[in-house]
Amino acid sequence: MIKAENVEKYYGKFKALDGITFEAERGEILGLLGPNGAGKTTTMRILTTYLPPSGGKLSVDGKDVVKDAIEVRKRIGYMPENPPLYVDMRVEKFLKFVGELRGLSGKKLKERLGYVREVCQIEEVWHNFISQLSKGYRQRVGLASALISDPPVIILDEPTIGLDPKQIRYTRELIKNLGGTHTVLLSTHILPEAEMTCDRVAIIDRGKIIAIGTPSELAEKIRKVNAVRVELSGPPNEVYKALLDLDGVSQVIPQERNGVYLVQFEPQWKTREQITKLAAEQNWHILELSPREASLEEVFLEIVAEEEHKKTDDETQIQKNIQRDDTVGE
Ligand SMILES: Nc1ncnc2c1ncn2[C@@H]1O[C@H](COP(=O)(O)OP(=O)(O)O)[C@@H](O)[C@H]1O
Ligand SMILES: [Mg+2]
Repeated sequence: MIKAENVEKYYGKFKALDGITFEAERGEILGLLGPNGAGKTTTMRILTTYLPPSGGKLSVDGKDVVKDAIEVRKRIGYMPENPPLYVDMRVEKFLKFVGELRGLSGKKLKERLGYVREVCQIEEVWHNFISQLSKGYRQRVGLASALISDPPVIILDEPTIGLDPKQIRYTRELIKNLGGTHTVLLSTHILPEAEMTCDRVAIIDRGKIIAIGTPSELAEKIRKVNAVRVELSGPPNEVYKALLDLDGVSQVIPQERNGVYLVQFEPQWKTREQITKLAAEQNWHILELSPREASLEEVFLEIVAEEEHKKTDDETQIQKNIQRDDTVGE
């Protein structure tokens, strides 16, 4: 349904996107997970035809975003990072206006207005001016305007930013419910959010997708950090074979300098001790034996995961407090 192939984007001389490739199937929820500045918004703006790519190909439902921009727009509901709302309009009027722009009228329009009013939980502010709304409500009106015409593809740029924990939970649930019947592309810098809401996650960093897979596949990747860099004084070929023969070693990868290897192993094996023993037996000197520096994606994943542990702890605490408040008087 969504296809991006080798997409590049320059802002002047700065390369913001460096060959992004991904696909989202019909009915799939795909997450773009990455830190600030990674290129998530840029990717979404190109996909929604608001920004031309500098290179590569993108299509939605087979329609090219450059050549067939109008057809692409018809198929997409887009909630940008800061939804462009007409602040001097009332919520109802604004959503009606957006619905009409998207070709709705009469009974259908009325029905969709009723739907978004309910699922986006904006009944309370339905008659208010947008200028008076809190950030959380503005976000929900932005979501409502993306959903109003019931487009098959929904693109949501950081949909839970600015919401309180209760609204966050609700919005994630809402997004999950859109899956199956809609193709959803959402961006987030929150790892648990991606895990909770998405069928698949593409991790994006500095304009590149560094990993893509289901949340459990990505979790598997993180566990594969166990590796050591090794250089032994023996003949490189013999060293290579001997390392590969050790119990628990899954891969031996030659490094930039001849005779240096990266040895990947399953975590339960005492591989460093085995290497020390091997060197002693063979009368080889250990020139290097060090834990490998984690690759960019591993570092990034760990950083994101750590940060989110802290945050979700806070969030859980807040949620507990809310639940406690809810149960008071029952
Ligand atoms: N209009 C622009 N002009 C110049 N640089 C930009 C512009 N928009 C974004 N960038 C840069 O491109 C990179 C990617 O930005 P963005 O797509 O907004 O990332 P994300 O949404 O992942 O935070 C960042 O380094 C950002 O500073
Ligand atoms: Mg962004």
